[in-house]
Amino acid sequence: MAENAELRAFSEKVARGAGEILRRSYGLQQTIHFKGEINLVTDVDHESEAYLLARIREAYPDHGVLSEESPELLSPSRYRWIVDPLDGTTNYAHGYPCFCVSVAVERQGAVVAGAVYDPLLDESFTAALGGGASRNGKPIAVSKTRELRKSLLATGFAYDVKSSSDNNFDYFRAFVLTGQAIRRDGSAALDLCYLACGRFDGFWELKLRPWDTAAGLLILQEAGGVASRLDGGIYDIHQPDLLASNGRIHEQMVEVLRKAKK
Ligand code: IPD
Ligand code: CA
Ligand code: CA
Repeated sequence: MAENAELRAFSEKVARGAGEILRRSYGLQQTIHFKGEINLVTDVDHESEAYLLARIREAYPDHGVLSEESPELLSPSRYRWIVDPLDGTTNYAHGYPCFCVSVAVERQGAVVAGAVYDPLLDESFTAALGGGASRNGKPIAVSKTRELRKSLLATGFAYDVKSSSDNNFDYFRAFVLTGQAIRRDGSAALDLCYLACGRFDGFWELKLRPWDTAAGLLILQEAGGVASRLDGGIYDIHQPDLLASNGRIHEQMVEVLRKAKK
C-alpha cells in the first residue's frame, strides 16, 4: 500500500534526523535527571523528542502522538505516532554504544510503518505493513535456527528490578541453561531489529512499553518473526510481556518459560 510506504519513508527520515542529534552529543557530559532510582533521562532524550514532535506536527498536524517523555497528544485522527526519542538511555549516559531512535505510526490501532535508527552504526531498520522489512534499504529476514540450544537470545530487566519480585531472574536462569548464550544490551527496540535480521534468534522481556516495541515489532513481523505473550497468548504493544523469536524456536521458548514460572 502506497500510503504505508510513504509513512515508512517519513518515519525513517525523522528517525535519522533525531539520530543525528544523539550522535552529535554522544560521549559528551550529559545532564541527567532521575525518573526513579535507576531510571534516568538526559537532556538529549528531550532534545531528540522535541525534534521528532515538531517534525510530526509540521507534516501531520492532526495526528495523535504518544512519546515517552511527554504527555500523550490526543487526537480524533485515525493515526497515532508512537515514539521513543532515545531507546537505551542508560547506555547513552554511560557512553556504551548501543542505542537508537524508534518511530512508528498506527492507523486505527494497527502499526503500519516504523523505523529504528542506530546513529553510531548508521543502521536504519524500517518496515511497512505488507511491504517487508529492511536494513539500510536491503530486505532482511529472521534466522533459520531451529534448536533453542543453538540460539543466541536477548532480554532486558525493567527499572523496578531491585524492588519487584516479578523480575525475570527465573526466566533468565532457565534460558542460560537451555539456550546457547544470552545478551542483555539495553535497547529493546534494537533487540527486536537484531532478531529481525537474524543476529538474535529469540528475545523476551517482562515490562515493556508501546514506544519500546511499536516499530521493532512491525520490523520483526515483516521479517518473518513471531511475537506472543510469555505464555504464548496473543501479544499487542499495549501488553507488558513480550516473547519474540524467529518462529522456529518459539514453542521451545514458551515451554521453557512455562516450566520456569513458579
Ligand atoms: C529501555 C530499554 C531497555 C529495556 C527497558 C526499557 P529506555 O528503554 O529498551 O532495553 O530493558 O525496559 O525501558 O528507558 O532506554 O528508553
Ligand atoms: Ca525505551
Ligand atoms: Ca527512551
